Amino acid sequence: MLSGSQSRWIVIFVAACALVFLIYVGRADTRSPRADEDTRARVSPVFTPAHRSVLDAVRDFFNRRPVPVQPLAFTHKVHLANGMHCTDCHTAVEAAPVAGIPGVELCMTCHQMIAADKPEIKKLAAYQKRGEDIPWQRVYAFSPTVHVKFNHAPHIRAGVECKTCHGDMTQQTVAVRAVDLNMGYCVNCHRQKQASTDCITCHY
Ligand code: HEC
Ligand code: HEC
Ligand code: HEC
Ligand code: HEC
Ligand code: HEC
Repeated sequence: MLSGSQSRWIVIFVAACALVFLIYVGRADTRSPRADEDTRARVSPVFTPAHRSVLDAVRDFFNRRPVPVQPLAFTHKVHLANGMHCTDCHTAVEAAPVAGIPGVELCMTCHQMIAADKPEIKKLAAYQKRGEDIPWQRVYAFSPTVHVKFNHAPHIRAGVECKTCHGDMTQQTVAVRAVDLNMGYCVNCHRQKQASTDCITCHY
């Protein structure tokens, strides 16, 4: 049997090791080129969510998602009120797994002229001038640790509305996580609509 003071020292030793390890992992993380991988990939519609820091990993573990801060005050509300459709910008949503986020070139087809004197549009033009795309932050994304595969196309074909999973975009400026797309939410609808509930339908 260990005495009280011996076991206390063991606890302190283990805690110190864990701390050293966390600091080491944290520093390795900030040095690696992965550091900015959770901002959107440049032109690819496929994003690679990775943990930017240990803190992000811990948040992720406790299912606390940081609220994304977008680089530009985009507004869904105004564009939708001007008669635009989701598919004007999220062009792949009906045919592919990912919906896609429009590049700065598409925005500038209109904003070369429209509201060109507004500060946010000047920011937009500056991205284009620098040859950069806008580093939008992900709003709906699963942690890589849950190994979820999702595909928009079969949902759109089956008549599931965007609203069901993303809320009312006509009231949102930048997108917010209006619906908690957790496993229960997915599985409930799959049961109701007699879509597959096999684990491998949604996991890899
Ligand atoms: C059944 C639920 C569901 C429906 C319906 C749905 N989405 Fe999504 N959407 C998701 C999920 C889940 C993600 C995150 C997927 C991921 O990151 O793996 C997502 C991600 C996105 C993204 C960002 C990533 C990407 O795929 O490019 C956009 C944009 C998007 N959805 C737009 C739409 C639009 C537009 C519609 C309607 C035409 C729509 N969604 C309908 C569940 C849904
Ligand atoms: C089909 C044309 C069109 C496209 C494409 C378009 N917009 Fe717009 N945008 C508009 C119109 C119209 C307005 C409203 C202008 C007004 O109220 O003066 C607007 C308004 C805005 C505003 C608000 C400006 C302000 O401060 O009043 C921002 C920001 C913006 N757009 C960003 C974008 C971004 C980013 C993209 C690309 C993802 C984009 N727009 C694509 C037509 C477009
Ligand atoms: C004028 C172009 C435009 C239109 C029209 C548009 N979006 Fe978007 N959408 C964007 C841009 C730019 C972003 C990235 C900024 C943000 O997250 O709000 C975005 C982001 C999103 C996201 C968050 C994606 C993620 O996971 O990061 C969802 C969901 C989404 N849009 C759904 C919709 C739906 C549904 C509609 C139609 C009702 C729609 N959008 C119409 C340009 C547009
Ligand atoms: C509101 C209803 C609804 C919600 C919510 C929903 N689904 Fe679905 N899902 C469907 C329907 C309907 C189909 C189409 C089945 C078919 O084509 O036979 C489908 C199909 C799929 C497929 C393709 C299956 C295949 O056979 O190719 C995948 C993958 C999938 N869903 C994953 C998800 C995930 C992950 C979520 C949660 C983020 C989700 N779904 C949320 C209704 C829903
Ligand atoms: C219709 C889609 C769907 C099906 C079917 C499904 N899952 Fe999931 N599962 C998800 C989604 C989406 C998440 C991620 C939820 C999140 O991040 O909030 C998830 C998360 C999980 C997690 C991680 C839980 C957590 O909170 O970290 C486990 C474990 C899991 N699923 C196991 C299973 C098993 C086992 C099956 C088969 C019996 C299954 N799933 C079937 C969509 C599905």
